[in-house]
Amino acid sequence: MEGMITVFGWAIFCLAIAPVYGEYYSETTPAAVAEKVTQLHFFLHDILSGENPSAVMVARSNLTNDDDSPTPFGSLFAIDDPLRVGPEPTSTVIGNAQGLYLSSSQDASKFTIVMYIDFAFTSGKFNGSSFSVFSRNPVTEGDREVAIVGGRGQFRLARGFAKIKTSFLNATNGDAILEYNVTLYHF
Ligand SMILES: *[C@@H]1O[C@H](CO)[C@@H](O)[C@H](O)[C@H]1NC(C)=O
Ligand SMILES: *[C@@H]1O[C@H](CO)[C@@H](O)[C@H](O)[C@H]1NC(C)=O
Ligand SMILES: *[C@@H]1O[C@H](CO)[C@@H](O)[C@H](O)[C@H]1NC(C)=O
Ligand SMILES: *[C@@H]1O[C@H](CO)[C@@H](O)[C@H](O)[C@H]1NC(C)=O
Repeated sequence: MEGMITVFGWAIFCLAIAPVYGEYYSETTPAAVAEKVTQLHFFLHDILSGENPSAVMVARSNLTNDDDSPTPFGSLFAIDDPLRVGPEPTSTVIGNAQGLYLSSSQDASKFTIVMYIDFAFTSGKFNGSSFSVFSRNPVTEGDREVAIVGGRGQFRLARGFAKIKTSFLNATNGDAILEYNVTLYHF
């Protein structure tokens, strides 16, 4: 009996050390899953002021030392912004946006950021799922849109766009509340 176990053990050991590798790719087949579309509506609260800002500057060029704007050209912000159901700072949190944005326009009158941000949900049907924005956002334009380039969880392989409107902006300290209408194609 003990001999049997040893033989089996040895066989398993041999299998483990001598795997047979196939090709590195599978057969390519037509994808049989139907694409779905989901719309989302929420408000992103990007707060730079106060004791507990949700957006903090992590780098800026020393060439902009004389610029007193809260977001001079070349400044980079790390964010963990709450996503809320409404524009009120007390409205229910349904997720958070984490990542970076860069103040990218040399012309201050055309304040623009480039966003590298993952929008994740922490409640409801899409709890645990997120989508990724990598896009230019021309903040001074009333009606603007950003590109959605991917996603996780239920938003796996997402593509889409988000329409953004500024609901509140304090140009002195940079605090902003942004309304998002998102259209996501996903599987
Ligand atoms: C910015 O930093 C560089 C490198 O340290 C230095 O050579 C330059 O003089 C600085 N410029 C200003 C405006 O402080
Ligand atoms: C969201 O999902 C997390 C992880 O699965 C879970 O702990 C949490 O209770 C969920 N929240 C809600 C509001 O469903
Ligand atoms: C989002 O859609 C609602 C309903 O159609 C509309 O009232 C609102 O202005 C839209 N907001 C944005 C940012 O597109
Ligand atoms: C805008 O920010 C400035 C500086 O923090 C502050 O004094 C002012 O009250 C703010 N305005 C509004 C409308 O929140």
